[in-house]
Amino acid sequence: MKNILVIGASGQIGTELVLALRKRFGNDSTIASDIKIPNKTVLDSGVFEKLDILDKKQLKSIIDKHQIKEVYLLAALLSATAEKHPNFAWKLNMDGLFNVLDLAKEKIIDKVFWPSSIAVFGPTTPRENTPQITVMEPTTVYGISKLAGERWCEYYFNQYNVDVRSIRYPGLISYSSLPGGGTTDYAVDIFYSAKKGETFNCFLKEDTELPMMYMEDAIRATINLMETQKENIKIRSSYNIAGFSFTPKDIYDEIKTNIPNFSINYQPDFRQKIADSWPKSIDDQQAKKDWNWTPEFNLKKTIGTMLKNIRLS
Ligand code: NAD
Ligand code: SER
Repeated sequence: MKNILVIGASGQIGTELVLALRKRFGNDSTIASDIKIPNKTVLDSGVFEKLDILDKKQLKSIIDKHQIKEVYLLAALLSATAEKHPNFAWKLNMDGLFNVLDLAKEKIIDKVFWPSSIAVFGPTTPRENTPQITVMEPTTVYGISKLAGERWCEYYFNQYNVDVRSIRYPGLISYSSLPGGGTTDYAVDIFYSAKKGETFNCFLKEDTELPMMYMEDAIRATINLMETQKENIKIRSSYNIAGFSFTPKDIYDEIKTNIPNFSINYQPDFRQKIADSWPKSIDDQQAKKDWNWTPEFNLKKTIGTMLKNIRLS
């Protein structure tokens, strides 16, 4: 019996992570929490607690009430929204992390998962096959908060023996819930336009290549990393992982093979500058070596799965 708390459970990743953890460890194993009510499947399959991660007292009381031992902290502002609210993004992304890390430092909880992002890299980073360890000079508030978070995770491990584990997720593609304000969101939005028979207005240029991943792979990676023996985890900042890379034109062309009259307009906005500062592809040798990471979805399989499963409400 696990006692897991997922914070930010109503978001794009949380919605699927909660269900995957409940499937693996039982419905009672995983408490979902968020400031927002989750979807019906999450709500009906187990306990939900309303929780603002910035409220340290409320967090402690939920941890005590459910005797939580493992926390997955997903609550954050993503890249595009963070650029609009830089001060609040810094507060939420950093204070939220400290509130959880401090409970692990006090040995009230045993294990923490906290996601980082490809946004930790910046324009001075090598953009092709970006290494695990390389130049990191992020230019977005989101990237700065994720890089600082990585340094703090490693510090808490080194100084206080906190078992915190992390992955630098690429852009994630899924159909169960919508993405929440990122630069890679276009790669989900495009499917809704395609299914509705609308022209898709893409906020990135046609040749903007970014690293992406299908959600099922990201969830599997997360649970695998959390189940790996402690001594095999060599990276305590955050692991690079890769799925596949593509441009808006690549995904459009592939969707068009399924929906021949689908059309697209390119109307780049402020998110273009963010995307231009990020890697095109990622080297994930270290994750492969330390915990046998391997992706199962490529672009074609992802598109087939998305087109089959997306429901228009
Ligand atoms: P999301 O925006 O879809 O979900 C975040 C959830 O956090 C939302 O449900 C929101 O209501 C909740 N939340 C916001 N403020 C909160 C607070 N004060 N207290 C409690 N909950 C709060 O984001 P996501 O895509 O699910 O991302 C989850 C994590 O993964 C984030 O840390 C994000 O940076 C990281 N990540 C995501 C991606 C991606 O492509 N989705 C890529 C890299 C990293
Ligand atoms: N998908 C995320 C974003 O675009 C990357 O962390 O913000």
